[in-house]
Amino acid sequence: MDLILFSGRSNQPLSRNLASALDLHPGRCLIEDFPDGEIQIQVKEDIQGCDVYLLQSTDAPAGRNLMELLLLADACRRRGAGRITAVIPYFGYARQDRRVTDEEPVGARVVTDMLATRCDRILAVELHTPAVEGFSSVPLVHVPATPLLAEAFRTHRSERSILVAPDAGAAKLVNRYADLLQLPVAYVQKIRKSGEEVSVEAIIGNVEGRSPVIVDDMISTGGTMVKTIEALLERGALPEVAVLTGHALLVGDAGRKLAKLPIKRIITTDSVLHQGTRSLPLEVHSLAPLLADRIRELRKA
Ligand code: R5P
Repeated sequence: MDLILFSGRSNQPLSRNLASALDLHPGRCLIEDFPDGEIQIQVKEDIQGCDVYLLQSTDAPAGRNLMELLLLADACRRRGAGRITAVIPYFGYARQDRRVTDEEPVGARVVTDMLATRCDRILAVELHTPAVEGFSSVPLVHVPATPLLAEAFRTHRSERSILVAPDAGAAKLVNRYADLLQLPVAYVQKIRKSGEEVSVEAIIGNVEGRSPVIVDDMISTGGTMVKTIEALLERGALPEVAVLTGHALLVGDAGRKLAKLPIKRIITTDSVLHQGTRSLPLEVHSLAPLLADRIRELRKA
């Protein structure tokens, strides 16, 4: 089956890089907004029987980006695509993997159900939780960004470095980094009070005189990082912090909040676009080679 890659509008630079890593030209399609805000799509290629990949991150505006992906998949299906794979570098709603109270939906399940109506397969990067894979009725291929980020940090590692999991959810993640980087680990006990507000109850492990390397799947509002770094400094950690995170969403005034902290580097990926982050020491590593390798493997299988 001939391979073709189309891009939604959420992350066109990554789509272009992925196309070039795969030695392709991005597929031609028109995506515009109607005056009332609805999305108009026209697939301008003959894709009859093709192996179609659609790249779209579902970061903010998550609903809109998801709808665009679904419409693009529908247009491809109706043009006779042989197989459709949604490539989702940042998978929005993955944090809604369970109900905290019985008043809530399971958002991640809703999203996988919608994707399964139009796509044959999902390829997602550094998911908040592997539970999402279990929700999906079509094959979901998970591509962790951990090895890429660990390699990017390796040259900065010192005998003072200590990996820090900023909450219980990051405990498995930090252990993967510990295996890759052979560093000790500290665990933070975090309580989330609201979407923006968190508090640190305790830190397990001695961080005094150590350079913290905080690992998390994402930075959203920055609340978790701010409270974690403050708590680490109070306990005698050195004011030279590194952060390894798959998705630097940096919503709202996260950039401003983080710029006030002694962060030497934030090593992340290009899963989402970063705007207005000049004051932050962001080191962005492209997912394009990783995604290209995974797509080549999938096509051989
Ligand atoms: C939570 O479980 C996630 O792993 C992140 O720690 C969290 O989503 C980060 O959000 P924020 O930056 O808003 O604290």
